Amino acid sequence: MTNVVKATPKALQDAGDIIRKGGLVAFPTETVYGLGADALNPQAVARIFEVKNRPRFDPLIVHIADFFEVEHLCHSPNKKAEKLIERFWPGPLTIILPKSKVVSDIVTAGLSTVAIRMPAHPVALNLIKEAGAPIAAPSANPFGYLSPTTAGHVREQIGEKVDMILDGGKCPIGVESTVIDLTEAEPLILRPGGLSLEEVEAVIGKVKLSTTDYSKPRSPGQLPRHYSPRTPIKILKEAEFEFPNVEIPKKVGLLAFMHPKEKLPYEVVEVLSSRGDLREAAANFFTQLHRLDAAGLDIIYAESVPEVGLGRAIMDRLRRASGDVKQY
Ligand code: TXA
Ligand code: MG
Repeated sequence: MTNVVKATPKALQDAGDIIRKGGLVAFPTETVYGLGADALNPQAVARIFEVKNRPRFDPLIVHIADFFEVEHLCHSPNKKAEKLIERFWPGPLTIILPKSKVVSDIVTAGLSTVAIRMPAHPVALNLIKEAGAPIAAPSANPFGYLSPTTAGHVREQIGEKVDMILDGGKCPIGVESTVIDLTEAEPLILRPGGLSLEEVEAVIGKVKLSTTDYSKPRSPGQLPRHYSPRTPIKILKEAEFEFPNVEIPKKVGLLAFMHPKEKLPYEVVEVLSSRGDLREAAANFFTQLHRLDAAGLDIIYAESVPEVGLGRAIMDRLRRASGDVKQY
Protein backbone atom coordinates (compact mmCIF):
# COMPACT_ATOMS: atom_id res chain seq x y z
CA MET A 1 0.00 0.00 0.00
CA THR A 2 1.23 3.45 -0.77
CA ASN A 3 0.67 6.60 1.22
CA VAL A 4 1.22 8.80 -1.83
CA VAL A 5 -1.97 10.70 -2.58
CA LYS A 6 -2.82 13.25 -5.22
CA ALA A 7 -3.18 16.66 -3.58
CA THR A 8 -6.97 17.00 -3.94
CA PRO A 9 -8.95 19.28 -1.58
CA LYS A 10 -10.02 16.18 0.40
CA ALA A 11 -6.43 14.92 0.66
CA LEU A 12 -5.37 18.38 1.84
CA GLN A 13 -7.99 18.27 4.59
CA ASP A 14 -6.77 14.85 5.70
CA ALA A 15 -3.18 16.08 5.59
CA GLY A 16 -4.12 19.08 7.72
CA ASP A 17 -5.65 16.70 10.29
CA ILE A 18 -2.48 14.62 10.35
CA ILE A 19 -0.35 17.72 11.01
CA ARG A 20 -2.72 18.94 13.75
CA LYS A 21 -2.48 15.53 15.44
CA GLY A 22 1.31 15.66 15.46
CA GLY A 23 1.94 13.57 12.34
CA LEU A 24 4.27 14.04 9.37
CA VAL A 25 3.24 14.98 5.85
CA ALA A 26 5.57 15.30 2.87
CA PHE A 27 4.42 17.98 0.46
CA PRO A 28 5.54 19.79 -2.67
CA THR A 29 6.86 23.31 -2.68
CA GLU A 30 8.11 25.30 -5.66
CA THR A 31 11.70 24.39 -4.68
CA VAL A 32 11.82 20.77 -3.42
CA TYR A 33 9.50 18.46 -1.44
CA GLY A 34 9.39 19.19 2.29
CA LEU A 35 8.79 16.91 5.26
CA GLY A 36 6.34 18.85 7.40
CA ALA A 37 5.20 18.87 11.01
CA ASP A 38 3.38 21.40 13.20
CA ALA A 39 6.15 23.91 13.94
CA LEU A 40 4.61 24.70 17.33
CA ASN A 41 4.54 21.04 18.46
CA PRO A 42 8.04 20.05 19.63
CA GLN A 43 7.25 16.31 19.71
CA ALA A 44 6.03 16.35 16.13
CA VAL A 45 9.15 18.29 15.12
CA ALA A 46 11.33 15.71 16.89
CA ARG A 47 9.92 13.04 14.56
CA ILE A 48 11.26 14.97 11.57
CA PHE A 49 14.79 14.63 12.94
CA GLU A 50 14.29 10.89 13.54
CA VAL A 51 12.90 10.17 10.09
CA LYS A 52 15.63 12.17 8.34
CA ASN A 53 18.37 10.97 10.61
CA ARG A 54 19.23 14.61 10.88
CA PRO A 55 21.63 15.91 13.53
CA ARG A 56 19.88 17.98 16.17
CA PHE A 57 22.24 20.91 15.57
CA ASP A 58 20.69 21.51 12.15
CA PRO A 59 17.77 23.97 12.43
CA LEU A 60 14.57 23.82 10.36
CA ILE A 61 12.75 26.33 8.18
CA VAL A 62 9.28 27.40 9.38
CA HIS A 63 6.80 27.71 6.49
CA ILE A 64 3.95 30.18 6.71
CA ALA A 65 0.95 31.11 4.58
CA ASP A 66 0.09 34.51 6.10
CA PHE A 67 2.26 37.59 6.41
CA PHE A 68 1.13 38.34 9.98
CA GLU A 69 2.90 35.16 11.14
CA VAL A 70 6.24 36.94 10.73
CA GLU A 71 5.56 39.11 13.75
CA HIS A 72 4.31 36.12 15.69
CA LEU A 73 7.42 34.04 15.06
CA CYS A 74 10.24 36.55 15.11
CA HIS A 75 11.42 39.90 16.43
CA SER A 76 12.51 43.06 14.73
CA PRO A 77 11.87 42.46 11.07
CA ASN A 78 14.06 45.28 9.72
CA LYS A 79 13.66 47.41 6.58
CA LYS A 80 15.63 45.01 4.43
CA ALA A 81 13.54 42.07 5.62
CA GLU A 82 10.37 43.99 4.87
CA LYS A 83 11.54 44.84 1.36
CA LEU A 84 12.52 41.26 0.60
CA ILE A 85 9.27 39.87 1.97
CA GLU A 86 7.22 42.33 -0.02
CA ARG A 87 9.06 41.65 -3.24
CA PHE A 88 9.73 37.90 -3.09
CA TRP A 89 7.12 36.18 -0.91
CA PRO A 90 5.57 33.82 -1.59
CA GLY A 91 8.75 32.45 -3.17
CA PRO A 92 12.07 30.65 -2.86
CA LEU A 93 13.60 32.92 -0.23
CA THR A 94 14.17 32.01 3.43
CA ILE A 95 14.97 34.82 5.83
CA ILE A 96 16.65 34.50 9.20
CA LEU A 97 15.65 36.83 12.03
CA PRO A 98 15.76 36.73 15.85
CA LYS A 99 13.14 34.24 17.04
CA SER A 100 10.19 34.89 19.33
CA LYS A 101 9.25 32.82 22.39
CA VAL A 102 6.67 30.73 20.54
CA VAL A 103 9.38 29.03 18.48
CA SER A 104 10.84 26.12 20.40
CA ASP A 105 14.50 25.23 20.60
CA ILE A 106 14.09 22.00 18.72
CA VAL A 107 13.06 23.94 15.59
CA THR A 108 16.01 26.32 15.74
CA ALA A 109 18.52 23.82 17.18
CA GLY A 110 18.95 26.10 20.14
CA LEU A 111 19.82 29.17 18.06
CA SER A 112 18.30 32.52 18.98
CA THR A 113 17.28 32.98 15.35
CA VAL A 114 14.61 31.38 13.20
CA ALA A 115 14.41 30.71 9.45
CA ILE A 116 11.07 31.56 7.84
CA ARG A 117 9.65 31.34 4.37
CA MET A 118 6.33 31.57 2.55
CA PRO A 119 6.41 28.98 -0.23
CA ALA A 120 4.92 29.76 -3.66
CA HIS A 121 3.12 26.47 -4.20
CA PRO A 122 -0.66 26.12 -3.87
CA VAL A 123 -0.38 22.70 -2.21
CA ALA A 124 2.08 23.96 0.41
CA LEU A 125 0.03 27.09 1.12
CA ASN A 126 -3.23 25.14 1.38
CA LEU A 127 -1.65 22.56 3.65
CA ILE A 128 -0.47 25.27 6.04
CA LYS A 129 -3.96 26.79 6.02
CA GLU A 130 -5.66 23.42 6.58
CA ALA A 131 -3.29 22.64 9.45
CA GLY A 132 -3.94 26.05 10.97
CA ALA A 133 -0.32 26.26 12.09
CA PRO A 134 3.06 27.14 10.66
CA ILE A 135 4.83 24.06 9.33
CA ALA A 136 8.44 23.20 10.07
CA ALA A 137 9.89 21.39 7.10
CA PRO A 138 13.31 20.40 5.87
CA SER A 139 13.72 18.83 2.45
CA ALA A 140 12.11 15.37 2.53
CA ASN A 141 15.29 13.32 2.07
CA PRO A 142 17.53 11.40 4.45
CA PHE A 143 20.14 13.79 5.87
CA GLY A 144 22.95 14.53 3.42
CA TYR A 145 21.26 12.82 0.45
CA LEU A 146 19.88 14.37 -2.76
CA SER A 147 16.80 16.52 -2.26
CA PRO A 148 13.50 15.18 -3.64
CA THR A 149 11.76 16.97 -6.49
CA THR A 150 8.97 14.43 -7.05
CA ALA A 151 6.63 12.50 -4.76
CA GLY A 152 8.29 9.32 -6.07
CA HIS A 153 11.68 10.45 -4.72
CA VAL A 154 10.12 10.93 -1.29
CA ARG A 155 8.43 7.52 -1.40
CA GLU A 156 11.66 5.76 -2.37
CA GLN A 157 13.73 7.46 0.32
CA ILE A 158 11.52 7.76 3.39
CA GLY A 159 8.09 6.60 2.18
CA GLU A 160 7.27 4.14 4.93
CA LYS A 161 8.24 6.56 7.69
CA VAL A 162 5.83 9.38 6.93
CA ASP A 163 2.07 9.45 7.43
CA MET A 164 1.21 10.87 4.03
CA ILE A 165 2.94 12.08 0.86
CA LEU A 166 0.99 14.71 -1.04
CA ASP A 167 1.71 14.41 -4.75
CA GLY A 168 1.74 17.77 -6.51
CA GLY A 169 3.95 16.81 -9.45
CA LYS A 170 7.51 17.90 -10.11
CA CYS A 171 8.82 20.96 -8.25
CA PRO A 172 9.10 23.82 -10.76
CA ILE A 173 12.26 25.48 -9.37
CA GLY A 174 14.08 22.32 -8.39
CA VAL A 175 16.72 23.66 -5.99
CA GLU A 176 16.17 24.72 -2.39
CA SER A 177 15.36 28.27 -1.33
CA THR A 178 18.01 30.93 -0.96
CA VAL A 179 18.76 31.39 2.77
CA ILE A 180 19.65 34.93 3.87
CA ASP A 181 20.67 35.96 7.36
CA LEU A 182 19.25 39.41 8.19
CA THR A 183 20.23 39.52 11.84
CA GLU A 184 23.34 41.64 11.29
CA ALA A 185 23.73 45.01 9.60
CA GLU A 186 25.20 43.33 6.53
CA PRO A 187 22.91 40.69 4.98
CA LEU A 188 24.61 37.36 4.38
CA ILE A 189 23.49 34.67 1.96
CA LEU A 190 24.12 31.40 3.78
CA ARG A 191 22.86 29.20 0.96
CA PRO A 192 22.54 30.21 -2.69
CA GLY A 193 19.24 28.84 -3.99
CA GLY A 194 16.15 29.35 -6.09
CA LEU A 195 16.28 33.15 -5.89
CA SER A 196 19.44 34.54 -7.43
CA LEU A 197 21.93 36.82 -5.68
CA GLU A 198 21.38 39.35 -8.47
CA GLU A 199 17.62 39.51 -7.76
CA VAL A 200 18.23 39.98 -4.04
CA GLU A 201 20.79 42.73 -4.61
CA ALA A 202 18.45 44.57 -6.97
CA VAL A 203 16.12 45.10 -4.00
CA ILE A 204 18.36 45.59 -0.94
CA GLY A 205 21.75 46.44 -2.43
CA LYS A 206 25.02 44.62 -1.83
CA VAL A 207 24.85 41.38 0.12
CA LYS A 208 27.64 39.08 1.16
CA LEU A 209 27.73 35.55 -0.13
CA SER A 210 28.97 33.25 2.58
CA THR A 211 32.37 31.95 1.57
CA THR A 212 31.69 29.20 4.07
CA ASP A 213 34.17 28.47 6.71
CA TYR A 214 33.40 24.78 6.50
CA SER A 215 34.94 24.01 9.84
CA LYS A 216 32.22 26.03 11.58
CA PRO A 217 29.00 25.87 9.63
CA ARG A 218 26.63 28.72 10.45
CA SER A 219 24.03 26.98 8.37
CA PRO A 220 24.45 23.23 8.30
CA GLY A 221 23.43 23.20 4.63
CA GLN A 222 27.02 24.43 4.43
CA LEU A 223 28.44 21.10 5.53
CA PRO A 224 31.13 20.10 3.03
CA ARG A 225 29.48 16.88 1.87
CA HIS A 226 25.79 17.40 1.44
CA TYR A 227 23.10 16.88 -1.19
CA SER A 228 25.11 13.82 -2.21
CA PRO A 229 24.21 10.91 -4.42
CA ARG A 230 25.45 7.47 -3.31
CA THR A 231 27.55 7.21 -6.47
CA PRO A 232 30.79 9.21 -6.33
CA ILE A 233 30.62 12.38 -8.35
CA LYS A 234 33.41 14.35 -9.96
CA ILE A 235 33.13 17.81 -11.45
CA LEU A 236 34.87 18.06 -14.81
CA LYS A 237 37.08 21.05 -15.41
CA GLU A 238 37.07 22.51 -18.93
CA ALA A 239 40.38 20.93 -19.89
CA GLU A 240 39.53 17.61 -18.39
CA PHE A 241 37.01 15.91 -20.61
CA GLU A 242 38.77 12.63 -20.57
CA PHE A 243 39.12 9.68 -18.28
CA PRO A 244 41.81 10.12 -15.68
CA ASN A 245 45.02 8.16 -16.42
CA VAL A 246 44.51 6.17 -13.30
CA GLU A 247 42.31 3.13 -13.21
CA ILE A 248 39.42 3.61 -15.61
CA PRO A 249 36.09 3.17 -13.88
CA LYS A 250 33.82 0.67 -15.55
CA LYS A 251 30.51 2.44 -15.67
CA VAL A 252 30.56 6.21 -16.04
CA GLY A 253 27.56 8.52 -16.22
CA LEU A 254 27.56 12.14 -17.33
CA LEU A 255 25.56 15.08 -16.07
CA ALA A 256 25.97 17.47 -18.99
CA PHE A 257 24.97 21.13 -18.98
CA MET A 258 23.85 21.65 -22.61
CA HIS A 259 25.18 18.64 -24.55
CA PRO A 260 28.05 16.24 -23.97
CA LYS A 261 31.28 17.80 -25.25
CA GLU A 262 33.11 14.49 -25.44
CA LYS A 263 32.16 11.20 -26.96
CA LEU A 264 33.27 9.08 -24.06
CA PRO A 265 31.56 5.77 -23.57
CA TYR A 266 29.12 7.00 -20.99
CA GLU A 267 26.54 4.49 -19.84
CA VAL A 268 24.00 7.22 -19.22
CA VAL A 269 23.94 10.90 -20.12
CA GLU A 270 21.54 13.39 -18.60
CA VAL A 271 21.37 16.91 -20.03
CA LEU A 272 20.38 19.77 -17.73
CA SER A 273 19.19 22.19 -20.42
CA SER A 274 19.88 21.77 -24.12
CA ARG A 275 19.27 25.50 -24.67
CA GLY A 276 21.61 26.47 -21.83
CA ASP A 277 18.89 27.98 -19.66
CA LEU A 278 20.01 27.99 -16.03
CA ARG A 279 16.44 27.98 -14.70
CA GLU A 280 15.64 24.89 -16.69
CA ALA A 281 18.95 23.37 -15.56
CA ALA A 282 18.10 24.01 -11.90
CA ALA A 283 14.63 22.52 -12.34
CA ASN A 284 16.18 19.33 -13.76
CA PHE A 285 19.21 19.14 -11.48
CA PHE A 286 18.11 16.85 -8.63
CA THR A 287 15.76 14.81 -10.84
CA GLN A 288 18.60 13.90 -13.17
CA LEU A 289 21.07 13.23 -10.38
CA HIS A 290 18.49 10.88 -8.86
CA ARG A 291 18.26 9.09 -12.21
CA LEU A 292 22.03 8.83 -12.57
CA ASP A 293 22.32 7.62 -8.99
CA ALA A 294 19.82 4.85 -9.68
CA ALA A 295 21.70 3.66 -12.79
CA GLY A 296 24.25 1.49 -10.98
CA LEU A 297 27.25 3.57 -12.09
CA ASP A 298 30.78 3.57 -10.66
CA ILE A 299 31.13 7.32 -11.01
CA ILE A 300 29.17 10.34 -12.23
CA TYR A 301 31.04 13.07 -14.11
CA ALA A 302 29.40 16.47 -14.02
CA GLU A 303 30.05 19.47 -16.25
CA SER A 304 30.28 22.88 -14.64
CA VAL A 305 27.62 25.49 -15.37
CA PRO A 306 28.18 29.28 -15.52
CA GLU A 307 28.16 30.81 -12.05
CA VAL A 308 25.53 33.47 -12.53
CA GLY A 309 21.86 33.50 -11.54
CA LEU A 310 20.68 30.02 -10.59
CA GLY A 311 24.04 28.67 -11.77
CA ARG A 312 25.41 29.56 -8.32
CA ALA A 313 22.92 27.29 -6.60
CA ILE A 314 23.67 24.47 -9.04
CA MET A 315 27.46 24.72 -8.60
CA ASP A 316 27.05 24.94 -4.82
CA ARG A 317 25.06 21.67 -4.81
CA LEU A 318 27.50 20.02 -7.22
CA ARG A 319 30.52 20.91 -5.11
CA ARG A 320 28.90 19.60 -1.97
CA ALA A 321 27.70 16.47 -3.76
CA SER A 322 31.27 15.79 -4.89
CA GLY A 323 32.75 16.67 -1.52
CA ASP A 324 35.01 19.07 -3.44
CA VAL A 325 34.69 22.31 -1.55
CA LYS A 326 38.18 23.64 -2.14
CA GLN A 327 37.03 25.04 -5.48
CA TYR A 328 35.08 27.69 -3.60
O1 TXA B 1 13.52 25.21 -0.37
C1 TXA B 1 13.69 24.94 0.82
O2 TXA B 1 14.23 25.73 1.60
C2 TXA B 1 13.18 23.57 1.32
C3 TXA B 1 11.66 23.56 1.21
C4 TXA B 1 11.05 22.32 1.79
O3 TXA B 1 11.15 24.72 1.83
N1 TXA B 1 13.62 23.34 2.64
C5 TXA B 1 14.92 23.09 2.95
O4 TXA B 1 15.13 22.84 4.29
O5 TXA B 1 15.81 23.06 2.14
P1 TXA B 1 16.49 22.20 4.82
O6 TXA B 1 16.22 21.91 6.25
O7 TXA B 1 16.85 21.04 3.98
O8 TXA B 1 17.51 23.35 4.71
C6 TXA B 1 17.39 24.49 5.54
C7 TXA B 1 18.68 25.18 5.68
C8 TXA B 1 19.68 24.33 6.42
O9 TXA B 1 20.93 24.48 5.79
C9 TXA B 1 19.67 24.94 7.81
O10 TXA B 1 20.89 24.75 8.46
C10 TXA B 1 19.41 26.40 7.50
O11 TXA B 1 18.49 26.37 6.45
N2 TXA B 1 18.83 27.09 8.66
C11 TXA B 1 17.62 26.91 9.24
N3 TXA B 1 17.45 27.70 10.30
C12 TXA B 1 18.58 28.43 10.42
C13 TXA B 1 19.02 29.44 11.32
N4 TXA B 1 18.26 29.86 12.33
N5 TXA B 1 20.26 29.96 11.13
C14 TXA B 1 21.03 29.55 10.10
N6 TXA B 1 20.67 28.60 9.21
C15 TXA B 1 19.46 28.04 9.36
MG1 MG C 1 17.94 19.75 2.93
